[in-house]
Amino acid sequence: MHTQVGIIGGGPSGLCLARLLSLAGIESVILERHDRAHVEARIRAGILEQGMIELMRRARVGDRMDREGLLHDGIVLTFDGRVERVDLAGLTGGKQVMVYGQTELTRDLYDAVLSDANITVVFEARDVQPEGFLEGRPALEFGKDGQQHRLVCDWIAGCDGYHGASRAAVPRDRITEFERVYPFGWLGLLAETPPVHDELIYSNHERGFALCSMRSHTRSRYYVQVGLDEKLEDWPDDRFWDEIRRRLPERFAAKMVTGPAIEKSIAPLRSFVAEPLRFGKLFLVGDAGHIVPPTGAKGLNLAASDMYYLSTALIAFYQQGRSDLLDRYSETALRRIWAAVRFSWWFTSISHRFGGDAIERRIQLAEFDYLMGSTAGRTTIAENYVGLAFDASFR
Ligand code: FAD
Ligand code: PHB
Repeated sequence: MHTQVGIIGGGPSGLCLARLLSLAGIESVILERHDRAHVEARIRAGILEQGMIELMRRARVGDRMDREGLLHDGIVLTFDGRVERVDLAGLTGGKQVMVYGQTELTRDLYDAVLSDANITVVFEARDVQPEGFLEGRPALEFGKDGQQHRLVCDWIAGCDGYHGASRAAVPRDRITEFERVYPFGWLGLLAETPPVHDELIYSNHERGFALCSMRSHTRSRYYVQVGLDEKLEDWPDDRFWDEIRRRLPERFAAKMVTGPAIEKSIAPLRSFVAEPLRFGKLFLVGDAGHIVPPTGAKGLNLAASDMYYLSTALIAFYQQGRSDLLDRYSETALRRIWAAVRFSWWFTSISHRFGGDAIERRIQLAEFDYLMGSTAGRTTIAENYVGLAFDASFR
């Protein structure tokens, strides 16, 4: 078996990359560990930046997103009782973000990919093992239905998330990993209830951080900061609703509509970057190469710039015989990644309880006062939240 680009992982990164390549006539095979239903059911990202929105359109999978996605001009930040709105669009020359769930985006991508003649998807691929990428003869070994297969390819794209096989296959002396694990997680709940507000609310409260997000006008997604030792079974729905209401200003708490959870899960918070993102003929893309805490809504949006840079570089290689962009992929992608790692870390640090001494909260309040009282402060939040531009010189 041979293909041009062997892709490990059929999440948003692998699917969208395959589509962008296909539209330039480049063939790929995607090896995905799970089945389609499993990948589509993962409740994760909810907010798309302009860059990801444009990439979906470029991949010709943006029609439903454009019809059903909700464009937002602002976010609300609260500190104990205080409520402040950050006018994202007003402070960034009209930039907006879009509420469109990763579940929906993944479904749209699979609909396109599975009817695309340039793309083959192998579901339930077992024990995928990238080989030969440092020696210039890349191949993917994997098992399927009890048989062992070998896929020879020109390039390997590791799009298999934080726990995948691609980064793990890189010799330890070739890679540097930067990591911070936060001393708390997010307990998330999805419910078929109207969102408490028409914009997202990020709340810093003495009891811990809370976030009110949504998937549509009738579906809410809420989070509360919890300790790392918390267990899901100790959080029946009623306890979650009581807790999030306590962490919100009265005017929101009073009108919160509760209902049974459709999904509930706890996610740990982590900052992680691998350097470099290229190892011979293997590239890391998306969560396989970097993780940010979800506070800035950046994870999927960072995968977007990786996909954009790598697809641009591979298209230049196949269409023009150029390898200069492939050589620049890692360095270019990492610049935007570190900017988002910094913002996500900072936004986490000003909005969560770290269990520190009394001075921690006073300093957070002073920072909140400063940011909200300053156009520069508000603009800093807005510019980073709507997302930094892709590097226009990468072509
Ligand atoms: P993944 O989605 O992890 O996909 C990797 C795929 O590879 C999976 O399908 C997996 O099954 C497959 N795979 C793994 N290992 C193997 C293997 N060995 N062999 C074959 N296949 C394999 N981001 C945002 O931009 N905005 C948000 O609002 C946001 N909110 C979030 C909220 C939460 C609670 C969480 C947890 C994340 C959030 N994110 C957000 C982050 C976002 O979900 C991720 O950044 C995104 O899923 C990355 O996509 P990916 O395709 O790179 O990786
Ligand atoms: C979500 O809707 O899941 C979401 C929104 C914003 C974030 C993180 C998660 O910052």
